[in-house]
Amino acid sequence: MTAEIVVVGSANLDLVVEVDQIPAVGETVMGGDLRRIPGGKGANQAVAAARLGRDVAMVGRLGADEGGEILRAALTADGVDTTRLITTDEAPNGVALIAVGSDGDNAIVVSPGANARVTPADVEAAADALRTAAVTLLQLEIPLDAVTAAAVAAEGTVILNPAPAVPLPADLLSRVDILVPNQTELATLAGHDGPIDAEIAARLAPTLPSPAVVVTLGADGALVVDRGVATHVPAPPVTPVDTTAAGDSFCGALADALVRGETLIDATQWAVRVGAATTQRPGAQPSLPTPAEVEQLLG
Ligand code: RIB
Repeated sequence: MTAEIVVVGSANLDLVVEVDQIPAVGETVMGGDLRRIPGGKGANQAVAAARLGRDVAMVGRLGADEGGEILRAALTADGVDTTRLITTDEAPNGVALIAVGSDGDNAIVVSPGANARVTPADVEAAADALRTAAVTLLQLEIPLDAVTAAAVAAEGTVILNPAPAVPLPADLLSRVDILVPNQTELATLAGHDGPIDAEIAARLAPTLPSPAVVVTLGADGALVVDRGVATHVPAPPVTPVDTTAAGDSFCGALADALVRGETLIDATQWAVRVGAATTQRPGAQPSLPTPAEVEQLLG
């Protein structure tokens, strides 16, 4: 099977606890029962696109432990091709410690483990898939040299979700066709201090070397800045249960719609709906919707 979308990225076992209030520095709070849920930005984006009907392959590394087994089984169950996902005994599987507050917001600490061992050689070994995929989806939970190797090898549309945010070399950004930061990530990339609203985002996005930037704005939807022209895409009104993986489902849905030949604006409208629907259920991969579930969850 030739994959329409190749995701080069991370897979984490999420250890999730619900709390009334996310703890402040130095504070201890009591939470609910611990849940272990398949996650990781790369794996979430792969599963998001697969649930929307796309053929997806994933490139990365899993640990040779129970976490790695859980993640491979979860990806396989959703039809993601895991043949280029290496099991390594160099490190444990990636783990994310997630506190989810009663307002649906979260705080996450990632222990990258095997994800941090992904190498440019791993990516080059998947060059066949990267050459033929219509879309390559990238994030920043694996080393930057591996992300760059993927952007170099990809021949289709390259989408980079720069999460978690770090300043990026112009060389990588100029190889990216569509950059998908949230407001905080845009501030980091553009070297901006202070909060970002849609107006500031429209001013900052064209300063980045990628031809198109889609800034996710949470409840306010997204801002598409394509060759300097800004278009606001509003979100449907929802009360979030858990925002974990909403950004990942947005990226998976954007890739899905672009593979189906939609324009960037139409693809962003779909991605905003899929992202909003994802906030209506708890957990990372369990919350990712099929197209029918998007309509049900948004009413
Ligand atoms: O974007 C959500 C994801 O971030 C979680 O699934 C967690 O694993 C972290 O990578």
